[in-house]
Amino acid sequence: MKVLANDGISKKGVEALEAAGFEVLTTKVAQEQLIDYINKHEIDVLLVRSATTARKELIDACKSLKIIGRGGVGMDNIDVAYAREKGLKVINTPAASSQSVAELVFAHLYGGVRFLHDSNRNMPLEGETKFGSLKKSYAKGVELRGKTLGVIGFGRIGQETAKIALGAGMEVIYHDPFIESSNISLEFFDGRSIDFSFDSVSKEEVLKNADFVTVHVPAQKEYVIGKKELDSMKDGAAIVNAARGGVIDEVALIEALDGGKLSFAALDTFENEPTPAIKVLMNGKVSLTPHIGAATNEAQDRIGTELASQIIEILK
Ligand SMILES: NC(=O)c1ccc[n+]([C@@H]2O[C@H](COP(=O)([O-])OP(=O)(O)OC[C@H]3O[C@@H](n4cnc5c(N)ncnc54)[C@H](O)[C@@H]3O)[C@@H](O)[C@H]2O)c1
Repeated sequence: MKVLANDGISKKGVEALEAAGFEVLTTKVAQEQLIDYINKHEIDVLLVRSATTARKELIDACKSLKIIGRGGVGMDNIDVAYAREKGLKVINTPAASSQSVAELVFAHLYGGVRFLHDSNRNMPLEGETKFGSLKKSYAKGVELRGKTLGVIGFGRIGQETAKIALGAGMEVIYHDPFIESSNISLEFFDGRSIDFSFDSVSKEEVLKNADFVTVHVPAQKEYVIGKKELDSMKDGAAIVNAARGGVIDEVALIEALDGGKLSFAALDTFENEPTPAIKVLMNGKVSLTPHIGAATNEAQDRIGTELASQIIEILK
């Protein structure tokens, strides 16, 4: 049986599939040639990440396909319901990258409280001539320990983020309309663990009391954080969006940063991906990454091996 991993797959994933007798093709086939390629090579499994799409037309045209797999979470690039109606299995790996996204949130937070996002912009330009004045501008850092992290959306990534916060000595509060209460087990390197219980509080309460807010909700029609929400945050607080572009109103966010309401923001996802607004990119109070939340070697390995084991279970 043949697997086409059109947007790539980790070495571990390839090894697991090959060990189970699958032939794995990692050629990147252009979208417009994909139907022909799948039919010519009689591909059984099409694996994609976010780049390749698997729409109705492809599903209808490719009779050899049995599984469509998405390495990662969101399946907006696949006509999932239609594929399932036609008898195909559609699989994904929703949990594989939660830890990676959570760590990126903390990379941004630890960077933000010590102005690393700005310092890294200015040191190459002025570090040699204005060391002293840069040192002064970045002198008033703060620590995360003892502060409160407000998590909006307490699913897989929200909970992983909470665990890191607890480990860092932060208090955690959360809002999630669908998860009223939650138990989190914080596991340590030596096998010991400590359990924590939380109850969801209102979004208003999270915004009012958190020193740092991080949003981990799925994409939705309305902004989850707009002007009203930003206004209700603590003065000098900060906010992170490593969920989806459009969850935070970026125009209102820039206003809140420029007006001094917020101390910094961190964005991994943007309203206008892949061409984020220049005003956002150029703002010195924004810590920026180009949607790399899930992009760690460990997550890619987990994605590959999770996909492989699901494929093996279905087809073998
Ligand atoms: N930056 C990245 O590279 C990256 C990688 C993976 C996932 N993501 C994104 O992270 C987000 C969270 O992923 P997850 O795996 O934790 O999803 P999840 O489904 O496990 O959790 C999402 C949670 O949000 C809650 N929720 C929904 N609407 C809400 C609202 N209006 N207010 C508060 N809570 C709300 C849900 O009840 C759910 O518990 C998704 O948008 C996903 O696309 C980003």
